[in-house]
This record gives sequence, structure tokens and C-alpha cells, in this order.
Amino acid sequence: MKSKILFIIIGLSSLTLNAANNASNIDAKKANAIAEGGRIYDKWWKELKLEKPASTHPSYPAVGKKQGAASWRCKECHGWDYKGDKGAYNKGSHKTGIKGIRNAVNMSDKEIVAILKNKIHGYDKVMPDAALAQLANFVKNGQVDIARYLNKKTLHVNGNKKHGESFFNKNCKECHGSDGRKINFKAPLNTEYLGTVATENPVETIHKLRNGNPAAFMNGKPMPNMNKILNLEEQIDLLTFLQTLPVK
Ligand code: HEC
Ligand code: HEC
Repeated sequence: MKSKILFIIIGLSSLTLNAANNASNIDAKKANAIAEGGRIYDKWWKELKLEKPASTHPSYPAVGKKQGAASWRCKECHGWDYKGDKGAYNKGSHKTGIKGIRNAVNMSDKEIVAILKNKIHGYDKVMPDAALAQLANFVKNGQVDIARYLNKKTLHVNGNKKHGESFFNKNCKECHGSDGRKINFKAPLNTEYLGTVATENPVETIHKLRNGNPAAFMNGKPMPNMNKILNLEEQIDLLTFLQTLPVK
């Protein structure tokens, strides 16, 4: 009798375990594909190992302050918050007056790819079709809006710092160090640490922690994409902790 019950319990628990594993595998695969598109959105030539553009993008407006390769990044015209002139880039050195891509979540992948090939963009001339499809997947499925968590004045987010700290210890500390200063992003001439970016540019930090950083490796391991591990609220918890790290 006892062994029969045990048998049923083992049978049931392995069933549920299998179901959970399958679900997380499918999600991880989807999340990885979206994150790849997110890294292309960030800096496509680095992620795809293509030649860095030498001239300024023909559609980059004269009022903008950028030149050369920087003007070819999706984020330079549409922003880390994807809101273009309605978001963080409505002022300062990244201002272009170009609209965001928030509405494109309602377009089909085909329509988005057609936009990337149009006269304004011309990305079919610099990257393969597979990369355009990955970008469309990101534009459609990878955008988030953190406005409801963000204090617009202080740029602080108000999540659960304790939870964030444990996510940090598990997923980031190994490479960035316990105070976020093991990697200096502006070395050797300047200093910019994890705490600096998280405090000054929360929307950039969310984009990078969700999708990973283009071609960023340490000891042969890539920076992981948290979109397959943490939900948005947990990502905000992580960002809340990152904003407590030293900025210099
Ligand atoms: C040099 C500036 C510039 C860059 C870089 C740029 N775009 Fe655009 N993008 C524009 C302009 C201008 C529009 C058209 C806005 C309009 O119709 O008024 C646009 C429109 C879009 C739209 C349609 C938005 C809508 O709601 O109609 C999408 C989607 C888009 N871009 C995606 C991207 C992606 C992905 C990248 C990177 C591969 C990118 N763009 C790079 C300037 C740029
Ligand atoms: C396997 C090592 C590794 C892990 C783990 C890792 N990163 Fe990174 N990260 C890097 C490398 C390498 C860079 C790029 C440094 C450079 O280009 O100067 C980077 C860059 C970044 C940047 C970009 C900063 C900038 O302005 O360019 C952010 C933000 C960041 N990481 C956040 C995180 C967070 C948050 C975690 C944990 C969820 C994490 N990273 C985990 C290796 C890692």
C-alpha cells in the first residue's frame, strides 16, 4: 500500500516536473531569440561582427549631435526606451526629434522588415535578411515600458532591493564584482561602472540586462540575457539594487 502511494507521488511529480521543464525550455528559446534582436538593436555591427559604418547615416538629422557609426544604431534615433522624441531623448546630446517605435508592436514582422528596408533606413544594404528578421522579432516582442516604475525626476526605480541583491549575486557579480566596479566601461581614460550606468541611465540598463550586451564576453562566457530568467518586476528589483552601487 505504502509503495503504491509512493509510486503515484513519484509519477505525478515527474509529470509536473517535465511539464515545467518543457515550458521553460520553450520560453528560454523564444527569449534568447528576442534578446539577440535586442543586441542587434543596441549595436548591430558589433553583435553581428560586421564592418563598422564609416559615414553618418543618411537619415540622421542635421539637428543631431552625433556623427559616424553612432548614428547607425537603432537606439540613437529611437532611444533605449523606444519612445524617440517622446522619451529620454527628447532633450540633450541624443535629441533628434525622430519618433519612437512603440506603435510597431502592433505591426506584423513583415511590415517591420519592410520598414527596415525602406529609403529612410536601408538596413538591407548592410546586414543579412536573418538579422532583419531578428530585429523585427525584438521590435514586436521585446519592447518594455518601465515608466510606471520610474521616478522621472530622480531616475530612481523603487523595487525590492533585497530581491535585487540576490539576483545580482547570482547573475552579475561574477563578472562585474560585488560593488559593480570590476569592469570599467570607459577604461582606460575615464570611469563608468555598473552603478554609474544604472543611476544615470535606467532605461539603457534595463535594455542591456534584459537582452545582454553586444559581443560582451568574460572568460569565454557571454553576458547573460535576463529576459529568460527574471520577469519585468524582478528586473526592476535588480535595477533598484544596481542603483545603490558606487557611481565612481
Ligand atoms: C538615422 C535615424 C534612424 C535610425 C538609426 C533608425 N531609424 Fe527607424 N526610423 C527613423 C525615421 C526618421 C522613421 C520614420 C518616422 C516617421 O515616419 O515619421 C523611423 C521609423 C521606424 C519604425 C516605424 C515606427 C512607426 O511607428 O511608424 C520602426 C519600426 C523603426 N524605425 C525601426 C528601426 C530599427 C529596428 C532600427 C535599427 C536597425 C532603426 N529604426 C534605425 C529613423 C531612424
Ligand atoms: C560573463 C560575464 C558577465 C556577466 C555574468 C554579466 N556581465 Fe554585464 N558586461 C560584461 C561585459 C564583458 C561587458 C562589456 C564591457 C565593455 O564593453 O566595456 C558588460 C557590460 C554591461 C553593461 C553595459 C554598460 C555600458 O554602459 O556599456 C551593463 C549595464 C551590464 N553589463 C549589466 C549587467 C548585469 C545587470 C548583469 C547581471 C544580470 C551582468 N551585466 C552580467 C560581462 C558580464
